[in-house]
Amino acid sequence: MAEFLFADDSTAVLQGWQAPGALDLNAAFLRAGGWALPRTEAFPDATRLKERLQELAASVRSNGKLGLDLRGLRGGTEGVLAAAREAGVAFLLHTADLSPAMQSLLGVNVPRMVAVENEDEANLARAQGASAFLAPADKVQSLNHHGLPILAIAENSAQARQGMEAGAFGFQPRSPALLDETSIPEFTSRLMYGLGEANEMLLRKGPGTMPRLRIRNLDLSYPIQQGGMGVGVSWEGLAGAVAREGCVGLVSAIGTGYHPSARTARRFGRPDGTMSLNPPAALDTILRAALERAEGHGAVGVNILCAIEGYEATVRAAVASGAQMIVSGAGLPLALPDYVGDADVALVPIVSSARALSVICKQWQRKYNRLPDAVVLEGPESGGHQGFSPEQCVDPAFTVENLLPSVLAERDKWGDFPVLVAGGVWDRADILRFMALGASGVQMGTRFIGTFECDAHSNFKETILKAEADDIVLMKSPVGMPARGVRTALQSRMKQAPRPRFAA
Ligand SMILES: Cc1cc2nc3c(=O)[nH]c(=O)nc-3n(C[C@H](O)[C@H](O)[C@H](O)COP(=O)(O)O)c2cc1C
Repeated sequence: MAEFLFADDSTAVLQGWQAPGALDLNAAFLRAGGWALPRTEAFPDATRLKERLQELAASVRSNGKLGLDLRGLRGGTEGVLAAAREAGVAFLLHTADLSPAMQSLLGVNVPRMVAVENEDEANLARAQGASAFLAPADKVQSLNHHGLPILAIAENSAQARQGMEAGAFGFQPRSPALLDETSIPEFTSRLMYGLGEANEMLLRKGPGTMPRLRIRNLDLSYPIQQGGMGVGVSWEGLAGAVAREGCVGLVSAIGTGYHPSARTARRFGRPDGTMSLNPPAALDTILRAALERAEGHGAVGVNILCAIEGYEATVRAAVASGAQMIVSGAGLPLALPDYVGDADVALVPIVSSARALSVICKQWQRKYNRLPDAVVLEGPESGGHQGFSPEQCVDPAFTVENLLPSVLAERDKWGDFPVLVAGGVWDRADILRFMALGASGVQMGTRFIGTFECDAHSNFKETILKAEADDIVLMKSPVGMPARGVRTALQSRMKQAPRPRFAA
C-alpha cells in the first residue's frame, strides 16, 4: 500500500470541490499547505479577481500553492493573466484544447498544469509546454512516459491509491469524504484547524447532505434541476456551471439563432424564418460547450417547448448533439419518445396537473412502451409563462403544494419516477419543504438568473437583482399568455399602445 496513505507531507493535495455556504475553502487549503484552486469563472472582472488572488496569496503556508483554474474562462484572457501574475499565482490550470482567445496563455511565464484525459490531449499539452498534467487516476500509468509530473484525480479512495501507486506526485480528492478515507490525517487536521466547529461541519458536509437524485441512469449530487430559460438566459454558461456542481443544467433550445455562434439569415438584425430562429447547428454548439463545461459532472439537458416551430427537428438535433435529458412543456410532448427513439436520453415532461401527466403516461405507454424518466410539476409561482389561466394563477387550489398530492398519486399509478417541483423554489428550506411533501427534487429558474454564469444580458440580471417582492407581477407576455415577471417600463408602454405585430 502506498506510503501516502499515512500522512506523507510531501503529497500534494489539490482542492477538488467548492465549499458550501460561506466557507472560504481556498484559504483553508492554503493555510493547510494544500494547493488551492479558485476558479476564474466565478469572477465577473479582472480587478475583483486580482483582489481575491492577492488576499489568498497572503494565506499560503509551507508547501501550499495558489493555483488558478482557467477552465470555463470566456474571454478577457489578458486581464486574467495579468491579475494572476501580479498576485504571484504559482500555477495555472487549463484544458489542452484552447480557444483562439486563450492562445496567449501559452506565452505566459507561470507554470501551467493541463487537464488531460488521453494520449492525444497529453501530446498536445506537452507540445504547448505544459509543466504538469492533471489526469484521471487510471490514466496516470499510461501517461508517465511523457516525463511530466502528474496529479491524479480521485473520485474515491481506491482511485487515490491507484494514482499514487502509479507515480502521481499528489492527488485531487473530488469530495471532502476522501479527506478521511485516504487517511491523510495531518493534512486533514491542518485543514480543519482554525476553521471552528461550524465551518468544520460545513466542510465535511460537502456534496451529499441533501438526498441525491436519480433520473434514469443519471446520478446527481443534489436534487436540483436548473430550468431551461429562453431566450438566451440558460445556454452553455449557466447549464454547464450548474451541471458541473452535480445538478441538472438545462440549455434552452428556443431562439438559438440569437446565439453569437449562429450563422443564420438575419433581417433587421434578427433571425429570419424558423430555421434561422432555432438552427440545429447553434444548438449543437451550445450543447457541446455546456457538456464540456460540466466536465462529466451532473447532467446537461435541453429544454424544448412543444409549441416551437420545428419541435421534432429540434428534439432530433438535441439527441444527435449529446443531450442527456430532454425537458418539454408548453403543451403535451405526446410524440417525444418517437423522436428520441432508442437513444439513452432521459425524457422529462413539464405538467401543471395530474390529468396532464395521466394523458402523457397513457399515450407513451400505449404507443412507445415507455414512461417519463421524471416529471416536473410547475406551479403558478414560477417565473416566465404560466400553464394556468390568470384566475387560476391566484386561486389557492392551484398552488404547487395543493397540486402535488394528486400528481404524486398519478405517478404512483404508473411507476416510481421522480416528481420535481417548480415555481417559487428559492432556497434550501424550500427544497427540503417540497421534499418533505413527497417531491424527489426541484426545478429552479429565477434564482439562477442573477449569477455571473447566467447567459442573460447584464441589464436583465440587474433588473432581477434589484426587484423587490412588489415588483413581481402577473402580466400578459408579448405573445399574449399569462406570465410572471418584473414590472418594468415595458409593461406600461405595452398597456398604452397596441403591441407590435409579429408579421414579417
Ligand atoms: C426568464 C425565464 C425564462 C423561461 N423560459 C422557459 C422556457 O423557455 N421553457 C420552459 O419550459 N420554461 C421556461 N421558464 C421556466 C423555468 O424553466 C422554471 O420552470 C421556472 O423558472 C421555475 O420557477 P422559478 O422561476 O420560481 O424558480 C422560464 C423562466 C424564466 C424566469
